[in-house]
Amino acid sequence: MPKDPKDLRSARWFAPDDLRSMGHRSRAMQMGWSGEDWEGKPVIAIINTWSDLSPCHHHLRDRAEWVKRGILQAGGTPAELPVHDFAEQFLKPTSMLYRNLGAIEVEETLRSHPVDGVVLMGGCDKSTPALVMGAVSMGLPMIFLPAGAMLRGNYAGQKLGSGTDVWKYWDERRAGNIGAAEWEGVQGGIARSYGTCMTMGTASTMMSIAEGFGLTLPGASSIPAPDASHKRMAATCGRRIVDMVWDDLTPDRIITPAATRNAVTVAMATGCSTNAIIHLIAMARRAGVPLTLDDIDAIGRTTPVIANIRPSGDTYLMEDFFYAGGLPALMKELGDKLDLSVTTVTGQTLGDDIAPAKNFNADVIRPLSNPVYSEGSLAVLRGNLAPDGAVIKPAAMDPKFQTHKGPAIVADSYDALKEIINDEDYPMTPDSVLVLRNAGPQGGPGMPEWGMIPMPKALLKLGLRDMVRLSDARMSGTSYGACILHVAPEAFIGGPLALIETGDIIEVDVPNRSLNVQLSEAELDQRRAAWVAPAPRYQRGYGWMFARHIQQADKGCDFNYLETGFGAPVPEPDI
Ligand code: FES
Ligand code: MG
Repeated sequence: MPKDPKDLRSARWFAPDDLRSMGHRSRAMQMGWSGEDWEGKPVIAIINTWSDLSPCHHHLRDRAEWVKRGILQAGGTPAELPVHDFAEQFLKPTSMLYRNLGAIEVEETLRSHPVDGVVLMGGCDKSTPALVMGAVSMGLPMIFLPAGAMLRGNYAGQKLGSGTDVWKYWDERRAGNIGAAEWEGVQGGIARSYGTCMTMGTASTMMSIAEGFGLTLPGASSIPAPDASHKRMAATCGRRIVDMVWDDLTPDRIITPAATRNAVTVAMATGCSTNAIIHLIAMARRAGVPLTLDDIDAIGRTTPVIANIRPSGDTYLMEDFFYAGGLPALMKELGDKLDLSVTTVTGQTLGDDIAPAKNFNADVIRPLSNPVYSEGSLAVLRGNLAPDGAVIKPAAMDPKFQTHKGPAIVADSYDALKEIINDEDYPMTPDSVLVLRNAGPQGGPGMPEWGMIPMPKALLKLGLRDMVRLSDARMSGTSYGACILHVAPEAFIGGPLALIETGDIIEVDVPNRSLNVQLSEAELDQRRAAWVAPAPRYQRGYGWMFARHIQQADKGCDFNYLETGFGAPVPEPDI
């Protein structure tokens, strides 16, 4: 039964014949609205992450107009509401510090305004989880419009991939193999249009995950930002959200345990960013689904990587993935690894949604019989060094490091680390394990993407391009290498990572999922007793609050008080 117009949430503001509502109506009229705009019509929020400092979302000011067109076509009233831009490259100390702030902003922006449903527009790394987390907590019908990836990079006839090629050319520059002119050529060619990073970095991963949850229209996450079909998709989202409001298709009907398993499976099959783990857990927990690292690892063990996209794949980029059929084609290849009975924002089952999909290039989207990597993209390690888990991306590293034993070289800060990696004569061997600590959620602060520690000059000059690196930081989704990340608990709060010393022997065993330091419990206890907690990073402001409420990586780094189940649900505001 469609919703009765008098039961629209926005009608609580606009309909009553009383003093307050007269105020709302007169102020709407101040903007040029009339009764035509609010009487019996859903008001649809368009949450826009556009800004003049957000290159990945630079087209969203225009796309909002296309969403509005769709909303009007379907008999709704659009209302564009700007929020934080989540500009990954510019925000310091790290955009991760602001994901939860953004989620709060989205939740409270929706709660406090007279709106009935929402189209969320974003895509640059933290924006997708932030928008989804906030909107899920608010609970209005929602649809996610991914910003889409930028065009393939190009320099001197070479195809360039976001992030991935920056790291590669930077190593070559530091090794003295390329000069300033080539470096500048890469700089000018690597980001040629608006849109998100076009490797399977965190942005493409998270947009794919949103589609895996059923929160986008079919195929939306794979459309390149400059493609005309992106505009058509924007208008279609506008039309669809109006019907979702009438059908009261709220996110709790979409983000179910089965849909969450689908989202994790999709992540693994795409060769996802390591950041996906943190955001998947946080998004699921907002929906009341208690997803754990072990659940993710278990799905990873039986889900091969079938998207041949860099950095897990060898050559292709998101534009190629779109031409090959995009995420619906990938989901079709996954077949019964997905629960096709779940409901998506279309109001249909996932099975119905992907029925028309076709795979047009079996080298880009591989069949299960010919995967890029036989297990999922990521693995969860545990041991005396990471009792609450750590994450590695076996799909994008030199396989010889999957079982490894070597002496630690420990840096307490990024500055200390820089001295080590820039010293050509620093004593180390290819077996050394480079450790960066105090870069976790509290220590970073905000868990910056420092985990793909640049290769030290001392090893670069030997021609080496990979080694085991270990930290409580994250790494960019476009990164690669034998980097163990997200060690929990982090060093800054006294996790075992805080206790190791240069020369201690670190043991990694990816097939058996273990990460240990060769030290006895007694030795670790002794060092723990002598450990002195570092001074807090912030004495006031947002960072002060962040430090009090941020949870560790294995819990998704959400604030404890934002999680579902922390106290009673927030009531609707009095009007
Ligand atoms: Fe925005 Fe990579 S910097 S998606
Ligand atoms: Mg990134």
